[in-house]
Amino acid sequence: DWTMAEFRETKIAEIREQVGQKKVICGLSGGVDSAVAAVLIHEAIGDQLTCVFVDHGLLRAGEADQVVSLFHGHYNIPLVHVNAEALFMNGLAGVTDPEAKRKFIGKTFIEVFESEAKKIGGAEFLAQGTLYPDVIESVSFTGGPSVTIKSHHNVGGLPERMNMKLVEPLRELFKDEVRELGRELGLPDVFVGRHPFPGPGLAIRIPGEVTKERCDILRKADAIYLEEIRNAGLYDAIWQAFAVLLPVRSVGVMGDGRTYESVLALRAVTSTDGMTAQAFEFPGGFLPRVSTRIVNEVKGINRVTYDYTSKPPGTIEWE
Ligand code: XMP
Repeated sequence: DWTMAEFRETKIAEIREQVGQKKVICGLSGGVDSAVAAVLIHEAIGDQLTCVFVDHGLLRAGEADQVVSLFHGHYNIPLVHVNAEALFMNGLAGVTDPEAKRKFIGKTFIEVFESEAKKIGGAEFLAQGTLYPDVIESVSFTGGPSVTIKSHHNVGGLPERMNMKLVEPLRELFKDEVRELGRELGLPDVFVGRHPFPGPGLAIRIPGEVTKERCDILRKADAIYLEEIRNAGLYDAIWQAFAVLLPVRSVGVMGDGRTYESVLALRAVTSTDGMTAQAFEFPGGFLPRVSTRIVNEVKGINRVTYDYTSKPPGTIEWE
């Protein structure tokens, strides 16, 4: 039995013990976990911490601005904002296998972190907001389960050879506990209540080849979906909601003309820890309204479906 206030103190002591006088780089993803990890580590070691926010071009609309303004506005934590869109997009060209995407993204994140670490005169440690479910659900690199469902977490599957040592103060926590710790550390409620967003970002919501054009289409549709969810007052009732741009085209009719465009799947689930999940049941009229808006407003999409699959047997993300 422990309280969050005690947990905070214990972890601060452990981080100081592990890191000593060395420098730490913390990768911010825009999500709650990495933000909480960063704020906790900053309490422990102050300016020995530098945060790096890598914009891989696979973020949602407006995401980068929200993170940068949270860290500049509320905290005095040094933050490096790296625009790496071209690097990630070029590397993803022609890649369609889900694990190949995850591996490439994880490896490229680390390359960016290592190059940023050099710029600040060398950092021996890389901090991440890895949670307990990440540890048990992924990963071959920590000697996890013998079957890897996805090389998850936390930056999408880390390469085996990495020069930095990991600092992962949230490894024992579940999501609801991280949110509690975030509140304990004074993070704003809107931030603490954010839906999870995966490190590999939109790349795993675009089955098939990821291109900038498809990312832009998905970003527009996703923004409409989330806007409608917020307007309906449903955001906090849902664990996670997002759109998936399918590599399938369908025939439609608009005005006098035939269309032949992509199909979009909408997903929304309830869950307590992300390990199991159920499809969210929207009130009547909600999905038709979103569907009409998306088809009318987003060029490139002419059909919208809703994903009712539970986890298991599905997973939350499609890849
Ligand atoms: P799945 O799709 O495995 O997802 O049911 C469970 C939860 O984990 C998130 N997720 C990730 N988070 N890096 C992350 O930081 C990843 O590589 C990753 N893959 C999935 C997913 O969004 C859901 O909340």
